[in-house]
Amino acid sequence: MGFSRWYNRNLNRVWGFVEDRTAMRRWALRPQPEFSFKPSYWTGAFVINAFLYQVVSGALLLLYYEPSTATNATYLACGQTAGALASAPAAWCSTYYIIHSVPMGELLLSTHLYGAYAMIFLMFVHFYRGYYLGVYKAPREFSWMVGTLLMLLTLGMGFTGYLLPYTQISVNATNVGIVLAIRLPTVGPLLAPFILSDGTSQGLLSRMFDAHVLLIPLGLAALLYAHIALFESHGIAPPATSDPLQRRRFTDREGKGQVPFMPQILLYIGKWGLLYTGVLFGIAALWPWNLPTYEGNLAVTPGVTEPDWYFLWLFKMVDFYGVTPVLAVGISTVLIVFVLFLPFLDRSKRTHPRDRPLFIWLGTSMLGFFVVMTVWGGETPGVQILPMLVAETLGPIFLVNAVAIGLFHWRYVRSYRRRLAARTGTLPGVYARPTAAPAAVAAAEARSRD
Ligand code: HEM
Repeated sequence: MGFSRWYNRNLNRVWGFVEDRTAMRRWALRPQPEFSFKPSYWTGAFVINAFLYQVVSGALLLLYYEPSTATNATYLACGQTAGALASAPAAWCSTYYIIHSVPMGELLLSTHLYGAYAMIFLMFVHFYRGYYLGVYKAPREFSWMVGTLLMLLTLGMGFTGYLLPYTQISVNATNVGIVLAIRLPTVGPLLAPFILSDGTSQGLLSRMFDAHVLLIPLGLAALLYAHIALFESHGIAPPATSDPLQRRRFTDREGKGQVPFMPQILLYIGKWGLLYTGVLFGIAALWPWNLPTYEGNLAVTPGVTEPDWYFLWLFKMVDFYGVTPVLAVGISTVLIVFVLFLPFLDRSKRTHPRDRPLFIWLGTSMLGFFVVMTVWGGETPGVQILPMLVAETLGPIFLVNAVAIGLFHWRYVRSYRRRLAARTGTLPGVYARPTAAPAAVAAAEARSRD
């Protein structure tokens, strides 16, 4: 008997035993169709991989980090060099200690920081994939809305974590962010006492720390549970299509014939998780994070106040002449409400981007706006911008998009879509479509043509 036959037979026996004794098939996540074995179908799972790494690395950092602004730090790292670092706050000192005295501490801290960037970046990829492919359409409206709340909480993790090393730049940027947060209509004044605590810097650091290590992670875990439960009940969204009658959900019984979650899908996702961790460690080892100077260091003139990259767009908006913090917060609120209720705004039954020109224009313009504002914020932080320059820089994004998408759509409607509509019976679709009378097909076509 060849080695591989022997290996597979024993692996099956061991796996069969584990499955039987744990009754895994009853509680493991649902099987998935073969077509989903592509990375683009698992962008959310990649975010979970990143989140899990953040939980593990964050728990290790907690062993050493001290959330205190007291300047009589007891950490040897600060105490020994009494001259230069004696007045450094304990939060900064403990971070300094992690980097310089804890074995592999620098790697641990750097991977936690870069891991946060990666999680936020992957989350945006997951969001935009869902946006372009219309996965938010029925029956996945609530998956989308819970996802939007997950996005806000993930950004909240970034915001609260930024203050923790207590560097000059992180304290200044957090103060700007807090001014923006408490200007939120209705919610802002309610949130203010919870964020600011007793108004002292220690009070603020304690609140940010509590939020970062306990409150927001609990919220994330609860929402993630809901997100996955919804995913379980609907199954994975089929590929986008122009077919208005495409089935968007398959039943559990259909699912049984597909690829089981354990061990195939778990191993598939695990493989990507390992690759992710390897790349993260590689980058952190090659370019470890440099700790900026501490808050209260009078020997160093404060640099420009700058948040992490994912909030640069918002900071830049406040630099625009005439844009007050209230207005900037108002614009962000409109964006959030738009994303939250998107499934109820985009009512057409077709999911393919070529059939949704208005929403593709909005999404692409939003993406262009974020990218340009982020680069602009990074290049000229704190520099006031006159309205004319704002119009000259941002206007073309909306205009060029409108023209390009308008042209594509016009061409599509004239040729391709007419041909597709003429042979509705062979429109692309993954699951067997219900047999519909020609009149029903025509009615659905007409309904979705708006
Ligand atoms: C912390 C952030 C998030 C995590 C960890 C997460 C996780 C996941 C996971 C594991 C899935 C299963 C399919 C897949 O792996 O892609 C999923 C699906 C989904 N997510 Fe998220 N998600 C997050 C944020 C978001 C956001 C911001 C949105 C949109 C606003 C969103 C909307 C959806 C939708 C609509 C589905 C169903 C897609 C399908 O069936 O293909 N998620 N998410």
